Formats: sequence, structure tokens, C-alpha cells
Amino acid sequence: MQEKKNYYITTPIYYPSDNLHIGHAYTTVAADCMARFKRMQGYDVFYLTGTDEHGQKVERAAREKGKEPIQHVDEIVANIRKLWDLMLISNTDFIRTTEERHEKLVQKIFQKVYDQGDIFISDYQGWYCNPCETYFTERQLVDGKCPDCGREVELLKEESYFFNMAKYAPRLLEYIEANPEFIQPESRRNEVVSFIKGGLEDLCVSRTTFSWGVPVPFNKKHVVYVWFDALINYLTGIGYLEDEEQFNKYWPADVHLMAKDIIRFHAIIWPIMLMALDLPLPKKVCAHGWIMLEGGKMSKSKGNVVDPNILVQKYGVDAVRYYLLKELTFGQDGLYSEEMLATRINADLANDLGNLISRTVAMIIKYFGGVIPETREGAPLDEEMQASAGQAYAEATEKLEKLDFSAYLIATSRLVSRANKYIDETAPWLLAKDDSQKGRLAAVMYNLLECIRIALILTAPTMPTLMERANKQLGLWAQPEEVEWEDAGIWGMTKNGTQVAKGESLFPRIDLKALREDEPMKEIKEVEMPAPEDKSTPEKLVVEDEYISIEDFAKIDLRVAEVISCEKMEKADKLLILRVKLGDEERTVVSGIAKHYAPEDLVGKKVVLVANLKPTKLRGVMSHGMILAASDDQYVDALTVTKDIASGNRVK
Ligand code: MSP
Repeated sequence: MQEKKNYYITTPIYYPSDNLHIGHAYTTVAADCMARFKRMQGYDVFYLTGTDEHGQKVERAAREKGKEPIQHVDEIVANIRKLWDLMLISNTDFIRTTEERHEKLVQKIFQKVYDQGDIFISDYQGWYCNPCETYFTERQLVDGKCPDCGREVELLKEESYFFNMAKYAPRLLEYIEANPEFIQPESRRNEVVSFIKGGLEDLCVSRTTFSWGVPVPFNKKHVVYVWFDALINYLTGIGYLEDEEQFNKYWPADVHLMAKDIIRFHAIIWPIMLMALDLPLPKKVCAHGWIMLEGGKMSKSKGNVVDPNILVQKYGVDAVRYYLLKELTFGQDGLYSEEMLATRINADLANDLGNLISRTVAMIIKYFGGVIPETREGAPLDEEMQASAGQAYAEATEKLEKLDFSAYLIATSRLVSRANKYIDETAPWLLAKDDSQKGRLAAVMYNLLECIRIALILTAPTMPTLMERANKQLGLWAQPEEVEWEDAGIWGMTKNGTQVAKGESLFPRIDLKALREDEPMKEIKEVEMPAPEDKSTPEKLVVEDEYISIEDFAKIDLRVAEVISCEKMEKADKLLILRVKLGDEERTVVSGIAKHYAPEDLVGKKVVLVANLKPTKLRGVMSHGMILAASDDQYVDALTVTKDIASGNRVK
């Protein structure tokens, strides 16, 4: 029997100073998606997450609540575990830095590195940022404040142990150069390289100003610096020096995943610690962007957070996970708003995927009593459909391998849109009217079911309950949990005799209007935040106090609308009455462009419609939306979409 390949992925271990927010959920869901993807590919996966419980910050949070640190962290850790259960996080182990297995290992490692002379005692004086728990040199401060969070720093002096990082810097640079995949994305690699080239100072790896930490084994006045302690979790979790077989199986880690805030700890300090231990370096350290709220980064210490528990209860775990992974472009920051979440669920999941499934099921029942006949008649269009499925599989796989979650889900969405378009192109309702087209109709239904099967496999790492829920209607698999990723790359696996049955809606539409009226962001406490990172100057078409936020813009639901018919309005020389299609929906829109367009010019065109404009009556005809057009004194030019983008898709 061929031996299974191994895969080890980690998230940062989170500070349990307070409950976690959707920023933490993002990293954990992303790592979970990778873990599930790799398991579906047949890997033996070890997925580690946990909590970083020592340090002044956690100690202070506990004392503020009148609790002992351990009592405080026990409570928060219980909440974190519950949250990960709710979000269907499939971690193999959960490591707490207060566990004996970890504290013992931290002490052993500290002792070893000290014994070999890489840790030494000296006096330390530096500018200390309490919230960041980091010392800075005078040179590193920005306007005399913390360069990371911008808050006040204090000058502290203490006897400390130091770790000689500079000794290993040339080796680390060599390694980074020889392994371009090591730090991802590239922008972070450049940042790390220039930081190392700027010269690494000795790292202060012990503290005497508080006691909530792992005691230095040979000098109990000191506790181990929280980052030195925390990074070691990646070794404890897989049994370093305890379970040699397991450790050798999973080390070096395939991916340490995190946000960009802690890339330097993982791409500089951690590799140097590993070099000092003579251990191989992780294969990849990957930093994603931040989830931002209007006004800045979400952060517990600033009291500006969104609770994932509430979102999951409201929208379901599949939908929330999908939104998180689709919305944040790899490596970049992304804005969160509940309205954007609801809009994404409606567009991608209710309208596109959910509808594709419910329409296909309804048609197979209506035309064939729930079982597609075995005699099927293909057509050239089917090959195109099949090629799209193959492409979606290849692209989704490639993007996931690179941890580019948004691009992976864009590839799967494209397949779903293609399948919806295939329904329009093949018009099954017309085929059903003609008995001689039965074989063709059967082929169309089969191809749709195949596309659905493939889309469900591809989205399974993101939406862990969907395959099983959908399978109740589709009857595709006897054991959905045993489906392999590669099955999505094979066309034609749906068996003859597959019986479909009507079921409940997989993704109910969210009433955006009700959401808006319900104060959508009420669980977000707005707190003054620093300006977002990008300080590029916009063109001065709008003066600054007239800017609108991205969330204001997102309120305008712009959609691709296909004009299916158009006529002049009687006795109104400026008005055209258009019938437009947005996905499955049809609407009437009245537009004042009759002087510039003959009705037949517009039919078949895909225009841009303001889809959520309050309906209004124009000369007795209700208009449901407004078409966008550019104009000057001479021309009026309706905006059109020229690529093959299906109607109903969003314009943003
Ligand atoms: N305890 C350290 C990590 C030690 S790892 C050896 C720590 N903890 S933390 O609780 O502050 O978590 C930081 C991590 O949480 C980020 O790197 C990221 O993975 C996640 N996020 C926290 N806020 C986030 C956003 N607003 N957006 C995206 N990810 C966020 O640092």
C-alpha cells in the first residue's frame, strides 16, 4: 500500500485576553479550508491551532476583571473552543501554552540554546510598548511612539537574557533566497528581507517585570519572553522530544498561516530559533491581509470587533465561511460589513448555486420523474460545458495550493454561472415540449447534475455541511464524506439511476431591506480608529468631506441586465420601455434614452442597472431600476458589458 503524504498546517495561537472576532475566525477558517482540501486529496493532515496564554497583556486583562490569570484564560479558551466547534474547524489538536507539555518543552529549548551559547545574560534598556509586548530601539520609534500600534512607549531597563540572532542572519537570508516560496506573498518576503538586511539586534528573550509566564529554568526571577514561548507551540503540538515518530512525520510544517502583523516573528525569529535547534525550517510562512471595519483594523484592544458567533447563528456556518474566504483578496486587506456579507450570500449562494441546484432538481423531477434516462444525446455545446468544469477544477486546485482563497472561489463561481447560462442556452422547457428531443433533454439534465457534483466537491473545503445537505436532494453519493478531491476533475461520475428529490432551500435569500432596517451593524462598536494603510492621494474630483465610504457604495446594487425586449413609450418621445433579465428575474425599466437609441439597438445588449432603486411610475408605467449611461451635450451612451458575463452578476 502506498504511504499517505503528510501535511502540517498551523494558525497563530491567539491571545485569550478576550473573546475572538471575525479576524481570528478568518485565519482559522482559511487554515481549515486547506486542511479539508488536503484531506480530500488523500493527505494525512495535522491541523494545529490554540491559545497563547502567557504575558503581561493576558495577565493584565485577567486582573482588570478581578480574576487569576488561569481562571480568566480557562473561561476564554472554553469560548474559543466552542466557537471553533460552531464554525466546524477540524483541527487535530488544540495547544494551550499553559499546558505542562508545552511549558516543559519551552524550558528544555531555552536551556539547550543557553547551553550552546546562543542565549546570554546582559542589561537591557529599551522603549517598551505594553499592548504589543515589544521593545523598540529609539531609532525604530515613529514620532516617539510605537511603530506598530502608534501608542505611547515607556523606557524600561531590566536584566535580561538575549538571543544572538545576528549570528544566524546570513544563513536565513541565504535560505530565503534559495526558497522563493518560503515567505508568501512576495511583498512580505521583500519586507522581511530588507528588515534582516537592516541588521538584526540581539533579541531580549526574558522578562522580570511580571511573573505570568514560563520560568527560565536556571534563573527563576525571569520568565521566558512570550514570543519565544509562543512560537515553540508549533513543535509541542506534534510532540517534539516526546513522540519522535509523530514529530518526524509532520515536521517541517507545510504552512504557518497568519496575518501580516506577525510575519516578522514567523519569518525571522522563528526560523532563527529553529536554526539554533538544528531543525529544518517550515516550507511556507504565509501572511494574509486584515479584515477592516470602516475606519481601520478590527482589534480587541480597541474594542472594535464583530462576533462570529452572532453571524453564524444568523446566516449559517457554510455561508459565513464562504463569505470570509471569498471576500478577502489574497494578501490584501478587505472591508467587512454585514450588508456586504448578506449581498454576497444572496448573489453567489442563493441566486447562483442554490438556484442552479433547485432548478435542476425541479426539472429532473418534472421531466423525468426524478431519474435521468440513460439514453442521452450530446451536442457540441456540452463539450464547452465540460471544458469549463475541467478548467474550474484545475484553477481551483492551483489557487488553493497557493492559499489564494478568493481566486479559488471565483473559479468555482465561474463554473456555477456557466451552468446557469447553459440552462438559458439549452432552454430545457422548449426541449420538453418536443418528444423527439427527449434524449437531448436527458443529456442537458445529466450535464447540469455533473456540474453541480463538481461544484459541490470544489466548495466542500469551504462549506463543510453543503455537500451532505445537497446530497439529500441529489442522491449523488452514498458516502459524501468519502468523496475525493480528484473526483471533481473527472467528468461523468454521476451514475445512471441517480434519483433526485425535492428538498428545502439550501441558501434562503436574505431580506436586505429588513437587514438595513434592523441596524445591520449593531454588534459593532464604532471606536475611533487610525487611518487605513493606503495613504495614496485620490484625484481631486471630490472634496474630502464629500467622500462616501465603500459601504455607502455597496448599498447601490448594480447588476448586469440583459435587454430582452424594448419598445417606445406611446406619446413620450424620450422614453423607452425595456424588459430586462437579471439572472432568473425579469423586470420592466423605463429609460429616458429614446432620442439616442432605437429600441432594436438595445435588444440583446447587457446594460448596467441600478437594481435596488425604489420603483417609480413614469407616465403610468412602473420602472424597476435605472440604466446607467454616460452623457455630454451631444451624446448619451448607455454603459454595456462586452464580455460574456451572465446577467444578474454584480457590477462594482
Ligand atoms: N499570540 C500571537 C500569535 C502567536 S503565534 C506563535 C498573536 N495573537 S492574536 O490573538 O493577536 O492573533 C493575531 C492573528 O489573528 C493575526 O495574525 C491573524 O491571523 C488573526 N487576526 C486578528 N485580527 C485580524 C483581522 N482584523 N483580520 C485578519 N486577521 C486577523 O498575535
